[in-house]
Amino acid sequence: MRAALLRFGRAVISLSLGFVTAMAGIVVLCGLLICALLVVTLPLLPIVARAQRRLVEVDRRRIAARTGTPIPVRYAELSGPLFQQIITVITDPATRRDLLWQAVHLPAGMVLGMIGFGIPASVPQNLVIVPLFWWAVPGGVDGSYGVHVDSWPTAALCAGTGLLAAALAWFLVPRAADWEARWAPNLLAPGRASLVQRVAELTATRAAALEAHGAELRRIERDLHDGTQNRLVAVVMHLGIVERALRRDPAVALSSVLTAQNAATDALTELREVVRSIYPPVLADRGLDGAVDAVVARCPIPCTLTVTDLRRLPAAVEAAAYFVIAEALTNVAKHSGAESAQVSLAVRGDHLVIEVRDDGLGGAEEAGGTGLTGIRRRVEAFDGRTTLSSPEGGPTVLGVRLPTGT
Ligand SMILES: Nc1ncnc2c1ncn2[C@@H]1O[C@H](COP(=O)(O)OP(=O)(O)OP(=O)(O)O)[C@@H](O)[C@H]1O
Ligand SMILES: [Mg+2]
Repeated sequence: MRAALLRFGRAVISLSLGFVTAMAGIVVLCGLLICALLVVTLPLLPIVARAQRRLVEVDRRRIAARTGTPIPVRYAELSGPLFQQIITVITDPATRRDLLWQAVHLPAGMVLGMIGFGIPASVPQNLVIVPLFWWAVPGGVDGSYGVHVDSWPTAALCAGTGLLAAALAWFLVPRAADWEARWAPNLLAPGRASLVQRVAELTATRAAALEAHGAELRRIERDLHDGTQNRLVAVVMHLGIVERALRRDPAVALSSVLTAQNAATDALTELREVVRSIYPPVLADRGLDGAVDAVVARCPIPCTLTVTDLRRLPAAVEAAAYFVIAEALTNVAKHSGAESAQVSLAVRGDHLVIEVRDDGLGGAEEAGGTGLTGIRRRVEAFDGRTTLSSPEGGPTVLGVRLPTGT
């Protein structure tokens, strides 16, 4: 009984919420129509499109709560200049899909909302309130379903309709909610083409991740081989010389001991460098904002850092963000000729958003070296996005969005 009551209650909430989103959908659809038809309101299109995405997201969650299966979502990102955002809204297949959903949800959500909210709401009215208190109102009271109560027999009739409504609601409401949950995911989920494209993207980013991982392993292996291992070989050699010298002439041994000590110190320094390049210890000590603050402070060009809503993120994401900013600021110092630079770090939703901006000469090109390509690969490995805007004459803006994975 408890489970059935719970199921009934959830269905009432789901259908009532659907009624609200269907109503709000009218406002959003009118907004989209006005924005698309009038040139003066066209700049508002991305704002209304964002509202539409949020509204449909409510429906997606509502239906997913009923089916227990999350409905995937795939929107083109609304960023960059206004004109580009407008084009994105118009060309994004997800916009068309949302429009189709809203066109169907508008009548369906209203009817289902009346079943899910209207019928249950009439039960206490017809069953209890009107039959018990009709006499307090001169001339009688109107109940739902056209029943006018002005005597005890009509009050009994009203209570009867209330009972019928209760039975109808009990039978109909969970079924109506289940019925909606059966067909709605087909309209709310991305189409097949979009999923195929997504699979292709994920395959490519997984390949990039594996390649980046392989490259990183090879780099660490080279660093250890060429640096640390060589120094340690030298230490062993010098200790061998020391051993022989101690047997013959202990006075000569001293200089070899010193050389061996120097080689051991160098090996240690190189080892520290390698360790630092894997996961900068400053990240563990001071967090991403502290680590970036240190990089910003070291930048030879005056540089400011803005941090918004940052929290601790997975180590791999923090390390990627750190290396991206370090390379971007090295580029600013090396190539930009800028007078100032700004770094901003913010967590927005489930993304870490990084921006490195300088007022230099511009003209940055990925083909020009390995740094910017490395940034893109690193970010793609996390399924993130990199944007670079660097017209001749500047400014240069490098933007990176990394999924936080939390
Ligand atoms: N902030 C910037 N301002 C102006 N030009 C830039 C900027 N960043 C990069 N560039 C240009 O883009 C090119 C590519 O940069 P990239 O970081 O890929 O290579 P790099 O810095 O030359 O070498 P490395 O592989 O050591 O990073 C640079 O050679 C430079 O000409
Ligand atoms: Mg570089």
